[in-house]
Amino acid sequence: MNPAIIPSDPDAIVRPARNFAGSLRLPGDKSICHRYAMLAALAEGETQLDNYAPGADCASTLACLRALGCDIQEKGTNVTLIGRGGQLDAPVTALDCGNSGSTMRMLAGIVAAHSFASELAGDDSLSKRPMERVVTPLTQMGATISTGEGGRPPLRIHGGPLRGITYRMRVASAQVKTCLLFAGLLASGETVVEEPTRTRDHGELALRTFGADLQQDGSEVSIRGGQKLRGVSAAIPGDISTAAFFICAAALFPGSNLILDGLLLNPTRAAILDFVAGMGARISMLEVEEVHGELRGTVRVQGTSQLKGGRIAGRLTAAMIDELPVLAAIAPYTQDGIEIVDAGELRVKESDRISALAQNLEALGARVEVTSDGLRVPGRQQLHGGELQSHGDHRIAMAFAVAALRASGETRIRGAQAAAVSYPAFFSALQALAER
Ligand code: S3P
Repeated sequence: MNPAIIPSDPDAIVRPARNFAGSLRLPGDKSICHRYAMLAALAEGETQLDNYAPGADCASTLACLRALGCDIQEKGTNVTLIGRGGQLDAPVTALDCGNSGSTMRMLAGIVAAHSFASELAGDDSLSKRPMERVVTPLTQMGATISTGEGGRPPLRIHGGPLRGITYRMRVASAQVKTCLLFAGLLASGETVVEEPTRTRDHGELALRTFGADLQQDGSEVSIRGGQKLRGVSAAIPGDISTAAFFICAAALFPGSNLILDGLLLNPTRAAILDFVAGMGARISMLEVEEVHGELRGTVRVQGTSQLKGGRIAGRLTAAMIDELPVLAAIAPYTQDGIEIVDAGELRVKESDRISALAQNLEALGARVEVTSDGLRVPGRQQLHGGELQSHGDHRIAMAFAVAALRASGETRIRGAQAAAVSYPAFFSALQALAER
Protein backbone atom coordinates (compact mmCIF):
# COMPACT_ATOMS: atom_id res chain seq x y z
CA MET A 1 0.00 0.00 0.00
CA ASN A 2 1.18 3.50 -0.81
CA PRO A 3 -0.81 5.70 1.53
CA ALA A 4 -1.76 9.20 0.41
CA ILE A 5 -1.43 10.60 3.85
CA ILE A 6 0.94 9.54 6.58
CA PRO A 7 -0.17 11.16 9.81
CA SER A 8 3.34 11.33 11.28
CA ASP A 9 2.94 13.45 14.37
CA PRO A 10 3.15 16.43 14.19
CA ASP A 11 3.41 16.64 10.38
CA ALA A 12 1.37 15.00 7.64
CA ILE A 13 2.47 13.96 4.17
CA VAL A 14 -0.18 14.12 1.48
CA ARG A 15 0.31 12.50 -1.93
CA PRO A 16 -1.76 13.26 -5.02
CA ALA A 17 -4.97 11.29 -5.56
CA ARG A 18 -6.69 10.06 -8.75
CA ASN A 19 -10.23 10.25 -7.44
CA PHE A 20 -12.25 10.82 -4.28
CA ALA A 21 -15.12 8.52 -3.32
CA GLY A 22 -16.92 6.90 -0.41
CA SER A 23 -19.19 7.82 2.46
CA LEU A 24 -18.59 9.57 5.75
CA ARG A 25 -20.48 10.59 8.87
CA LEU A 26 -18.86 13.64 10.41
CA PRO A 27 -18.39 14.46 14.09
CA GLY A 28 -21.04 16.67 15.66
CA ASP A 29 -21.15 20.30 14.63
CA LYS A 30 -18.81 22.30 16.87
CA SER A 31 -21.01 25.40 17.00
CA ILE A 32 -23.98 23.36 18.22
CA CYS A 33 -21.92 21.28 20.68
CA HIS A 34 -20.54 24.35 22.50
CA ARG A 35 -24.00 25.92 22.81
CA TYR A 36 -25.85 22.76 23.88
CA ALA A 37 -23.19 21.94 26.48
CA MET A 38 -23.29 25.45 27.98
CA LEU A 39 -27.09 25.55 28.09
CA ALA A 40 -27.18 22.01 29.52
CA ALA A 41 -25.02 23.25 32.41
CA LEU A 42 -27.50 26.07 33.08
CA ALA A 43 -30.64 23.96 32.66
CA GLU A 44 -32.60 21.98 35.20
CA GLY A 45 -32.24 18.21 34.85
CA GLU A 46 -30.14 15.96 32.67
CA THR A 47 -29.01 16.51 29.07
CA GLN A 48 -27.87 13.65 26.83
CA LEU A 49 -25.82 14.57 23.77
CA ASP A 50 -24.92 12.00 21.10
CA ASN A 51 -22.21 12.57 18.46
CA TYR A 52 -20.59 15.28 20.60
CA ALA A 53 -17.56 16.64 18.69
CA PRO A 54 -14.38 14.76 19.68
CA GLY A 55 -12.03 17.69 18.92
CA ALA A 56 -10.03 19.71 21.43
CA ASP A 57 -12.27 22.81 21.16
CA CYS A 58 -15.44 21.14 22.40
CA ALA A 59 -13.40 19.32 25.07
CA SER A 60 -12.28 22.77 26.29
CA THR A 61 -15.92 23.75 26.76
CA LEU A 62 -16.62 20.60 28.81
CA ALA A 63 -13.49 21.17 30.94
CA CYS A 64 -14.57 24.74 31.70
CA LEU A 65 -18.10 23.62 32.59
CA ARG A 66 -16.69 20.97 34.96
CA ALA A 67 -14.58 23.67 36.59
CA LEU A 68 -17.84 25.61 37.09
CA GLY A 69 -19.37 22.67 39.00
CA CYS A 70 -21.23 20.83 36.25
CA ASP A 71 -21.21 17.03 36.53
CA ILE A 72 -20.34 15.59 33.09
CA GLN A 73 -19.97 11.94 32.07
CA GLU A 74 -18.46 10.99 28.70
CA LYS A 75 -18.71 7.63 26.93
CA GLY A 76 -17.05 8.03 23.56
CA THR A 77 -18.97 10.79 21.82
CA ASN A 78 -21.94 10.40 24.14
CA VAL A 79 -22.02 13.10 26.82
CA THR A 80 -24.35 13.39 29.82
CA LEU A 81 -24.49 16.69 31.69
CA ILE A 82 -26.35 17.33 34.93
CA GLY A 83 -27.69 20.88 34.85
CA ARG A 84 -27.11 23.34 37.68
CA GLY A 85 -30.48 25.07 37.40
CA GLY A 86 -29.00 28.44 36.44
CA GLN A 87 -26.37 28.64 39.21
CA LEU A 88 -22.76 27.65 38.55
CA ASP A 89 -19.97 27.35 41.16
CA ALA A 90 -17.10 29.81 41.47
CA PRO A 91 -14.10 28.26 39.69
CA VAL A 92 -10.98 27.76 41.82
CA THR A 93 -8.54 28.00 38.89
CA ALA A 94 -8.48 29.90 35.59
CA LEU A 95 -10.90 28.54 32.99
CA ASP A 96 -8.71 27.15 30.21
CA CYS A 97 -10.40 27.72 26.86
CA GLY A 98 -7.47 26.21 24.94
CA ASN A 99 -7.63 27.23 21.27
CA SER A 100 -11.37 27.87 21.33
CA GLY A 101 -12.65 31.40 20.69
CA SER A 102 -16.22 30.09 20.91
CA THR A 103 -15.61 28.76 24.42
CA MET A 104 -14.12 32.02 25.65
CA ARG A 105 -16.60 34.40 24.04
CA MET A 106 -19.80 32.49 24.78
CA LEU A 107 -18.81 31.41 28.29
CA ALA A 108 -17.92 35.03 29.11
CA GLY A 109 -21.64 35.84 28.77
CA ILE A 110 -22.52 33.16 31.32
CA VAL A 111 -19.85 33.79 33.98
CA ALA A 112 -20.42 37.56 33.72
CA ALA A 113 -23.91 36.97 35.12
CA HIS A 114 -22.59 35.14 38.20
CA SER A 115 -21.53 36.92 41.40
CA PHE A 116 -18.03 35.47 41.46
CA ALA A 117 -14.63 36.25 40.01
CA SER A 118 -13.35 34.15 37.13
CA GLU A 119 -10.50 34.22 34.66
CA LEU A 120 -10.79 32.94 31.09
CA ALA A 121 -7.45 32.11 29.49
CA GLY A 122 -6.32 30.37 26.32
CA ASP A 123 -3.35 29.11 24.33
CA ASP A 124 -0.92 31.36 22.41
CA SER A 125 -3.26 31.69 19.42
CA LEU A 126 -6.36 32.49 21.48
CA SER A 127 -4.33 34.94 23.58
CA LYS A 128 -3.87 37.08 20.45
CA ARG A 129 -7.56 37.25 19.52
CA PRO A 130 -9.79 40.31 20.07
CA MET A 131 -12.15 40.13 23.04
CA GLU A 132 -13.32 43.74 23.34
CA ARG A 133 -16.25 42.70 21.16
CA VAL A 134 -17.71 40.84 24.16
CA VAL A 135 -16.10 42.95 26.91
CA THR A 136 -17.78 46.21 25.79
CA PRO A 137 -21.41 44.98 25.82
CA LEU A 138 -20.98 42.80 28.93
CA THR A 139 -19.56 45.84 30.74
CA GLN A 140 -22.61 47.84 29.65
CA MET A 141 -24.76 45.08 31.16
CA GLY A 142 -23.03 45.55 34.52
CA ALA A 143 -20.02 43.19 34.60
CA THR A 144 -16.52 44.38 35.55
CA ILE A 145 -13.94 42.95 33.16
CA SER A 146 -10.23 43.49 32.72
CA THR A 147 -8.26 42.11 29.79
CA GLY A 148 -4.70 41.58 28.69
CA GLU A 149 -3.04 44.17 26.43
CA GLY A 150 -5.18 45.54 23.61
CA GLY A 151 -8.40 43.87 24.77
CA ARG A 152 -6.92 40.39 24.41
CA PRO A 153 -7.15 37.42 26.82
CA PRO A 154 -6.99 36.63 29.62
CA LEU A 155 -10.37 38.01 30.66
CA ARG A 156 -10.77 38.64 34.39
CA ILE A 157 -14.46 38.91 35.05
CA HIS A 158 -16.18 40.09 38.21
CA GLY A 159 -19.70 39.12 37.45
CA GLY A 160 -22.89 40.08 39.16
CA PRO A 161 -26.49 40.85 38.47
CA LEU A 162 -26.69 41.99 34.84
CA ARG A 163 -29.34 44.20 33.28
CA GLY A 164 -30.62 43.81 29.74
CA ILE A 165 -29.41 46.24 27.08
CA THR A 166 -30.07 46.99 23.44
CA TYR A 167 -26.84 46.39 21.57
CA ARG A 168 -25.97 47.00 17.96
CA MET A 169 -23.03 44.74 17.08
CA ARG A 170 -20.29 46.27 14.91
CA VAL A 171 -18.76 43.00 13.71
CA ALA A 172 -20.81 40.18 12.25
CA SER A 173 -20.11 37.52 14.87
CA ALA A 174 -22.36 34.67 15.97
CA GLN A 175 -20.10 34.13 18.97
CA VAL A 176 -20.78 37.67 20.19
CA LYS A 177 -24.52 37.38 19.47
CA THR A 178 -24.69 34.11 21.42
CA CYS A 179 -22.62 35.53 24.29
CA LEU A 180 -25.12 38.38 24.67
CA LEU A 181 -28.17 36.15 24.38
CA PHE A 182 -26.76 33.86 27.09
CA ALA A 183 -26.01 36.90 29.28
CA GLY A 184 -29.49 38.26 28.48
CA LEU A 185 -31.10 35.00 29.62
CA LEU A 186 -29.46 35.48 33.03
CA ALA A 187 -29.99 39.28 33.19
CA SER A 188 -32.96 41.31 34.40
CA GLY A 189 -35.26 42.82 31.79
CA GLU A 190 -34.90 42.38 28.07
CA THR A 191 -31.73 42.13 25.96
CA VAL A 192 -31.92 43.08 22.30
CA VAL A 193 -29.07 42.27 19.90
CA GLU A 194 -28.90 43.67 16.40
CA GLU A 195 -26.49 42.18 13.89
CA PRO A 196 -24.97 43.99 10.92
CA THR A 197 -25.22 40.84 8.78
CA ARG A 198 -27.12 37.66 9.48
CA THR A 199 -24.85 35.09 11.14
CA ARG A 200 -25.41 31.47 12.14
CA ASP A 201 -28.49 31.14 14.34
CA HIS A 202 -27.53 28.13 16.49
CA GLY A 203 -27.61 30.24 19.67
CA GLU A 204 -31.24 31.20 19.05
CA LEU A 205 -32.24 27.64 18.07
CA ALA A 206 -30.39 26.12 21.03
CA LEU A 207 -32.05 28.49 23.53
CA ARG A 208 -35.47 27.54 22.12
CA THR A 209 -34.56 23.84 22.27
CA PHE A 210 -33.80 24.17 25.99
CA GLY A 211 -37.15 25.93 26.50
CA ALA A 212 -36.45 29.67 26.25
CA ASP A 213 -38.63 32.07 24.33
CA LEU A 214 -36.93 34.54 21.92
CA GLN A 215 -38.31 37.15 19.52
CA GLN A 216 -36.82 37.70 16.08
CA ASP A 217 -37.55 40.92 14.24
CA GLY A 218 -35.49 41.38 11.08
CA SER A 219 -31.85 41.65 12.14
CA GLU A 220 -32.82 42.01 15.83
CA VAL A 221 -33.19 39.19 18.29
CA SER A 222 -34.41 39.69 21.84
CA ILE A 223 -34.58 37.60 24.98
CA ARG A 224 -36.30 38.16 28.32
CA GLY A 225 -34.15 37.44 31.37
CA GLY A 226 -35.00 34.96 34.10
CA GLN A 227 -36.39 32.18 31.91
CA LYS A 228 -35.80 28.62 33.10
CA LEU A 229 -34.21 25.99 30.86
CA ARG A 230 -34.74 22.23 30.97
CA GLY A 231 -32.34 19.52 29.82
CA VAL A 232 -32.81 17.79 26.47
CA SER A 233 -31.78 14.67 24.62
CA ALA A 234 -30.18 15.38 21.24
CA ALA A 235 -28.01 13.79 18.56
CA ILE A 236 -25.74 16.46 17.06
CA PRO A 237 -25.74 16.61 13.23
CA GLY A 238 -22.41 16.37 11.38
CA ASP A 239 -20.28 19.51 11.21
CA ILE A 240 -20.80 21.19 7.83
CA SER A 241 -17.67 23.34 8.21
CA THR A 242 -15.60 20.15 8.58
CA ALA A 243 -17.60 18.59 5.73
CA ALA A 244 -16.49 21.53 3.55
CA PHE A 245 -13.00 20.03 3.25
CA PHE A 246 -14.40 16.76 1.91
CA ILE A 247 -16.97 18.54 -0.30
CA CYS A 248 -14.20 20.60 -1.90
CA ALA A 249 -12.01 17.50 -2.32
CA ALA A 250 -14.87 15.73 -4.14
CA ALA A 251 -15.54 18.83 -6.26
CA LEU A 252 -11.96 18.63 -7.61
CA PHE A 253 -12.30 15.18 -9.22
CA PRO A 254 -14.64 14.61 -12.20
CA GLY A 255 -15.31 10.95 -11.30
CA SER A 256 -15.87 11.54 -7.59
CA ASN A 257 -18.82 10.41 -5.53
CA LEU A 258 -19.01 11.45 -1.88
CA ILE A 259 -21.91 10.69 0.45
CA LEU A 260 -22.16 12.59 3.75
CA ASP A 261 -24.75 11.20 6.17
CA GLY A 262 -26.49 13.07 8.99
CA LEU A 263 -24.99 16.39 7.93
CA LEU A 264 -26.09 19.74 9.39
CA LEU A 265 -27.99 21.69 6.71
CA ASN A 266 -29.00 24.79 8.68
CA PRO A 267 -29.52 27.50 6.00
CA THR A 268 -27.25 29.95 7.87
CA ARG A 269 -24.41 27.43 7.46
CA ALA A 270 -25.14 25.70 4.15
CA ALA A 271 -23.97 28.45 1.73
CA ILE A 272 -20.94 26.30 0.92
CA LEU A 273 -23.23 23.76 -0.77
CA ASP A 274 -24.79 26.41 -3.03
CA PHE A 275 -21.40 27.92 -3.77
CA VAL A 276 -19.81 24.61 -4.76
CA ALA A 277 -22.90 23.76 -6.85
CA GLY A 278 -22.53 27.17 -8.53
CA MET A 279 -18.94 26.20 -9.35
CA GLY A 280 -20.30 23.23 -11.28
CA ALA A 281 -20.17 20.31 -8.85
CA ARG A 282 -23.34 18.19 -8.59
CA ILE A 283 -24.87 18.36 -5.14
CA SER A 284 -27.96 16.42 -4.17
CA MET A 285 -29.74 16.11 -0.85
CA LEU A 286 -31.72 13.19 0.52
CA GLU A 287 -33.73 12.48 3.64
CA VAL A 288 -33.73 16.05 4.96
CA GLU A 289 -35.37 16.39 8.37
CA GLU A 290 -35.61 19.01 11.09
CA VAL A 291 -34.66 18.15 14.66
CA HIS A 292 -34.65 20.81 17.41
CA GLY A 293 -35.02 23.47 14.71
CA GLU A 294 -31.85 22.31 12.91
CA LEU A 295 -32.05 20.79 9.43
CA ARG A 296 -29.97 17.71 8.72
CA GLY A 297 -29.76 15.25 5.84
CA THR A 298 -27.66 13.17 3.50
CA VAL A 299 -25.64 15.01 0.88
CA ARG A 300 -24.09 13.59 -2.28
CA VAL A 301 -21.27 15.46 -4.07
CA GLN A 302 -19.94 14.67 -7.56
CA GLY A 303 -17.09 16.69 -9.00
CA THR A 304 -16.38 18.14 -12.41
CA SER A 305 -13.36 18.68 -14.65
CA GLN A 306 -14.49 22.27 -15.31
CA LEU A 307 -14.79 23.73 -11.82
CA LYS A 308 -15.71 27.40 -12.16
CA GLY A 309 -14.51 30.02 -9.67
CA GLY A 310 -16.32 33.00 -8.22
CA ARG A 311 -16.33 36.11 -6.09
CA ILE A 312 -17.16 35.98 -2.40
CA ALA A 313 -18.23 39.28 -0.82
CA GLY A 314 -20.50 40.84 1.83
CA ARG A 315 -23.08 38.46 3.29
CA LEU A 316 -21.60 35.46 1.53
CA THR A 317 -18.22 36.14 3.14
CA ALA A 318 -19.89 36.17 6.58
CA ALA A 319 -21.95 33.05 5.78
CA MET A 320 -18.88 31.05 4.67
CA ILE A 321 -16.31 32.52 7.07
CA ASP A 322 -15.02 29.07 8.13
CA GLU A 323 -15.11 27.66 4.59
CA LEU A 324 -13.01 30.44 3.00
CA PRO A 325 -9.65 28.75 3.73
CA VAL A 326 -10.49 25.60 1.78
CA LEU A 327 -12.10 27.57 -1.06
CA ALA A 328 -8.96 29.70 -1.38
CA ALA A 329 -6.75 26.60 -1.24
CA ILE A 330 -8.55 24.91 -4.16
CA ALA A 331 -8.97 28.16 -6.14
CA PRO A 332 -5.90 27.57 -8.39
CA TYR A 333 -7.60 24.45 -9.82
CA THR A 334 -10.72 26.41 -10.86
CA GLN A 335 -11.27 27.94 -14.30
CA ASP A 336 -11.75 31.56 -13.21
CA GLY A 337 -10.05 31.67 -9.81
CA ILE A 338 -11.63 32.87 -6.57
CA GLU A 339 -11.72 36.39 -5.18
CA ILE A 340 -12.54 36.92 -1.51
CA VAL A 341 -13.36 40.43 -0.18
CA ASP A 342 -14.84 41.83 3.08
CA ALA A 343 -12.98 39.13 4.98
CA GLY A 344 -10.90 41.18 7.43
CA GLU A 345 -12.13 38.79 10.18
CA LEU A 346 -9.89 36.11 8.63
CA ARG A 347 -6.92 38.00 10.05
CA VAL A 348 -8.09 37.41 13.64
CA LYS A 349 -9.05 33.74 13.48
CA GLU A 350 -6.89 30.91 14.89
CA SER A 351 -4.14 32.38 12.68
CA ASP A 352 -3.96 35.33 10.29
CA ARG A 353 -5.63 33.17 7.66
CA ILE A 354 -5.06 35.61 4.79
CA SER A 355 -1.28 35.50 5.32
CA ALA A 356 -1.25 31.76 6.03
CA LEU A 357 -3.24 31.03 2.85
CA ALA A 358 -1.03 33.23 0.68
CA GLN A 359 2.19 31.81 2.11
CA ASN A 360 1.13 28.18 1.60
CA LEU A 361 -0.35 28.76 -1.86
CA GLU A 362 2.93 30.37 -2.92
CA ALA A 363 4.88 27.43 -1.46
CA LEU A 364 2.91 25.18 -3.83
CA GLY A 365 3.81 27.44 -6.77
CA ALA A 366 0.55 29.45 -7.03
CA ARG A 367 0.20 33.14 -7.78
CA VAL A 368 -1.89 35.05 -5.20
CA GLU A 369 -2.82 38.70 -4.70
CA VAL A 370 -3.34 39.68 -1.07
CA THR A 371 -5.45 42.65 0.05
CA SER A 372 -6.13 44.02 3.53
CA ASP A 373 -9.45 42.16 3.76
CA GLY A 374 -9.13 39.25 1.39
CA LEU A 375 -7.25 37.67 -1.47
CA ARG A 376 -7.54 36.85 -5.14
CA VAL A 377 -6.29 33.53 -6.43
CA PRO A 378 -6.22 33.23 -10.24
CA GLY A 379 -7.49 29.99 -11.76
CA ARG A 380 -5.95 27.49 -14.20
CA GLN A 381 -2.81 27.02 -12.12
CA GLN A 382 -1.19 23.62 -11.59
CA LEU A 383 0.40 23.29 -8.17
CA HIS A 384 3.47 21.26 -7.29
CA GLY A 385 4.05 19.59 -3.92
CA GLY A 386 5.83 21.53 -1.22
CA GLU A 387 6.49 22.06 2.43
CA LEU A 388 3.72 23.98 4.20
CA GLN A 389 2.99 25.31 7.68
CA SER A 390 -0.33 24.88 9.46
CA HIS A 391 0.41 28.00 11.56
CA GLY A 392 -1.16 25.98 14.39
CA ASP A 393 -4.52 26.47 12.67
CA HIS A 394 -6.76 23.44 12.12
CA ARG A 395 -8.51 24.88 9.08
CA ILE A 396 -5.23 25.82 7.37
CA ALA A 397 -3.89 22.27 7.91
CA MET A 398 -7.07 20.69 6.52
CA ALA A 399 -7.45 23.15 3.60
CA PHE A 400 -3.97 22.34 2.27
CA ALA A 401 -4.41 18.61 2.74
CA VAL A 402 -7.26 18.99 0.22
CA ALA A 403 -5.25 21.20 -2.17
CA ALA A 404 -2.38 18.68 -2.02
CA LEU A 405 -4.61 15.91 -3.42
CA ARG A 406 -4.44 17.60 -6.83
CA ALA A 407 -0.82 18.84 -6.70
CA SER A 408 1.77 17.17 -8.90
CA GLY A 409 3.97 15.90 -6.07
CA GLU A 410 4.11 15.13 -2.38
CA THR A 411 3.25 17.81 0.19
CA ARG A 412 4.40 17.96 3.79
CA ILE A 413 2.19 19.93 6.18
CA ARG A 414 4.11 20.91 9.26
CA GLY A 415 2.03 21.08 12.44
CA ALA A 416 -0.81 19.15 10.78
CA GLN A 417 -1.86 17.78 14.17
CA ALA A 418 -3.65 21.14 14.61
CA ALA A 419 -6.54 19.42 12.78
CA ALA A 420 -7.34 17.72 16.11
CA VAL A 421 -8.87 20.97 17.30
CA SER A 422 -11.95 20.11 15.27
CA TYR A 423 -11.51 16.58 13.83
CA PRO A 424 -8.80 14.33 15.29
CA ALA A 425 -9.48 11.62 12.65
CA PHE A 426 -9.33 14.08 9.71
CA PHE A 427 -6.24 12.64 7.99
CA SER A 428 -7.36 9.02 8.23
CA ALA A 429 -10.85 9.97 6.93
CA LEU A 430 -9.29 11.86 3.99
CA GLN A 431 -6.97 8.94 3.30
CA ALA A 432 -9.85 6.45 3.23
CA LEU A 433 -11.67 8.50 0.56
CA ALA A 434 -8.70 9.44 -1.64
CA GLU A 435 -8.18 6.87 -4.42
CA ARG A 436 -4.88 6.43 -6.17
C1 S3P B 1 -18.75 30.48 15.38
C2 S3P B 1 -18.76 31.69 14.76
C3 S3P B 1 -17.70 32.15 13.87
C4 S3P B 1 -16.87 31.00 13.37
C5 S3P B 1 -16.45 30.07 14.46
C6 S3P B 1 -17.68 29.49 15.16
C7 S3P B 1 -19.86 30.13 16.27
O1 S3P B 1 -16.84 33.02 14.58
O2 S3P B 1 -15.73 31.47 12.68
O3 S3P B 1 -15.68 29.00 13.94
O4 S3P B 1 -20.03 28.96 16.64
O5 S3P B 1 -20.62 31.04 16.63
P1 S3P B 1 -17.18 34.60 14.76
O6 S3P B 1 -18.37 34.72 15.64
O7 S3P B 1 -15.94 35.18 15.37
O8 S3P B 1 -17.43 35.08 13.36
